[in-house]
Amino acid sequence: MEMQLNKISVEKTKESKLASVDFNNLPFGSIFSDHMMVCEYENGVWSAPKVIPYQKISLDPSAKIFHYGQSIFEGMKAYKDKEDKIWLFRPLDNHSRLNKSAARMAMPEIPQEYFMEGLSTLLQVDKDWIPQTEGSSLYIRPFMFASGNGFHASPADKYTFLICTAPSGPYFAGEVSVLIEETYARAANGGVGYAKAGGNYAAQFYPTKLATDKGYQQVIWTDDNTHEYIEEAGAMNIFVRIGDTLITAPTSDRILDGITRKSILQLAENEGIKTEVRKLKVSEIIEAANNSSLKEMFGAGTAAVISPISGFGYQGKDYELPKLENSFADSLKKKITAIQYNLADDPFNWRYQVK
Ligand code: PLP
Ligand code: COI
Repeated sequence: MEMQLNKISVEKTKESKLASVDFNNLPFGSIFSDHMMVCEYENGVWSAPKVIPYQKISLDPSAKIFHYGQSIFEGMKAYKDKEDKIWLFRPLDNHSRLNKSAARMAMPEIPQEYFMEGLSTLLQVDKDWIPQTEGSSLYIRPFMFASGNGFHASPADKYTFLICTAPSGPYFAGEVSVLIEETYARAANGGVGYAKAGGNYAAQFYPTKLATDKGYQQVIWTDDNTHEYIEEAGAMNIFVRIGDTLITAPTSDRILDGITRKSILQLAENEGIKTEVRKLKVSEIIEAANNSSLKEMFGAGTAAVISPISGFGYQGKDYELPKLENSFADSLKKKITAIQYNLADDPFNWRYQVK
């Protein structure tokens, strides 16, 4: 669909909240910047994006988002370097994944120019909200939901696409301990696991609560059929190092095609680290833990970056991971963040400057 993009209109807030924010002490995703971007879909067309003050949304109680959960989102980050230049990391991949999620949820796709120019305008307007403190960034949440009305269980006729941002510190405070899931599943063959659909996350909350009640922070999801193979870790893809090989599960219709995951694979290969993308049995991890060849496990995702896993529980038993001096997790995290924050060369052309 070809679309002409008019200049994006900007309405600035009269009362900035910026002065009230402690940039040295940022939580994750709970302080919101002054502006948001909004676009509405009606009669088969998207309206031009607008940047407006961050504000509440008004919806009819019959809006289909409330009843049938047509809702998708993305997670991205903006980084500001020492010269105040603004950078995104592989943003076109987020755009194309958003459209894949939209297609699966019977929602309209958003044109690339609307996504990129709407986001760039929003980031320019709120550029003072992008933290420069180490380990912090501006978390970006593009999302789309069914704003059309009616109890008929069918796709809505109206949709809203918004982008909100939140200056954020780390997602996890420290190391993460996980429980390998034996009963519940996050996704099934033919389902929506590969989409960033809101309902995928709602479905994780109950089993994750059972795990946090036992003292773990996250669940490692296993395949829905046998629970023998590991798939993802909460809202992250998972990597396991056995010996000197870094292993991650192949993406499928049950697993999100993470942008951090595929970047880590490329960086590792570039570093000469042996990688394997293959199905990985829980029994293989247990065997490696028992014979001390299990060296590392870590989650990878935009919000979490690379989060080392300190230990895991399985079938009532807890396993600790060794504390390594030179872990793959540490060196790969340094490499990817140096590219993201414009502190190193970008051999893969992943950085995108917002101008
Ligand atoms: N898996 C799930 C279920 C996620 O929600 C996320 C977060 O976005 C990821 C993996 C990691 O994906 P990305 O690296 O693109 O953020
Ligand atoms: C992200 O990593 O950006 C995500 O979308 C995960 C989110 C559920 C916090």
